[in-house]
Amino acid sequence: MAFSFLRSKQKDVAGQVDFNHLPRHIAIILDGNGRWAKKRGLPRTAGHSAGSENFRTIATYCRDIGIDYLTVYAFSTENWKRPKDEVETIMGLLKKYLLEAIDTMERDNVRLRFMGDLSALPEELRALTDQCNAISERLDGCLCSICINYGGRAEIVHAAQNFAKDCLVGTVKPEDLTEDGFENYLYSAGIPSPDLLIRPGGEQRLSNFLLWQCAYSEFYYTDVLWPDFSKEELLRAISAYQHRDRRFGGVKK
Ligand code: FPP
Repeated sequence: MAFSFLRSKQKDVAGQVDFNHLPRHIAIILDGNGRWAKKRGLPRTAGHSAGSENFRTIATYCRDIGIDYLTVYAFSTENWKRPKDEVETIMGLLKKYLLEAIDTMERDNVRLRFMGDLSALPEELRALTDQCNAISERLDGCLCSICINYGGRAEIVHAAQNFAKDCLVGTVKPEDLTEDGFENYLYSAGIPSPDLLIRPGGEQRLSNFLLWQCAYSEFYYTDVLWPDFSKEELLRAISAYQHRDRRFGGVKK
């Protein structure tokens, strides 16, 4: 069977998943790293390291089961307020991840894309994101978008500024703007909206993530902390999603 790679625990949960009707796009808020570390008497940075490893596991698994798009919230515009050593650790983990990705993404056929204001990132990190973008152009596998220095409100303001600039040069007219047209100005241009938004870590809020794109996403919250969010947990979230009745403001057929 096509999913023979599933282990027995996953198979139990997988029995509840319809693999022919998977969400096309899953978005995840990577939350709970700090608490995961605290529970183990470790520094918060150890939680981010475990969280980063788990991202690799879940991204690969999404590709295996046939998810087309995965978008994760790795670092928000507000996360700069964290202690300097924590910010440096997260940037270091991103660098490590990107360096490894450059070597493996072609083999794994996983595309990477970055959303957020990358101009504030260390030059070295930006150069690595450019390299990943260039490799991704040659691939067609699961598109993983990593949001770094990302804020949903900032994204909308940035899009509005760019639209206004196009108006000033005369390529577009304000009255011609449509919702679909506006989407082309967002970091997520060309990517369908998330069908399923997962937030591990027990909080039930959006925290300035994909404000525009999540207008009709199904939300799934769990107390499981991100480093513990396993493949089985992902399947559980997908199964819950498949029991939702998505009406997009209409009525049940
Ligand atoms: C939130 O948990 C997590 C972050 C702000 C950082 C996430 C970053 C990584 C996992 C590292 C690199 C990422 C990739 C994609 C390679 P928290 O610290 O707020 O947890 P807490 O609520 O338990 O304190």
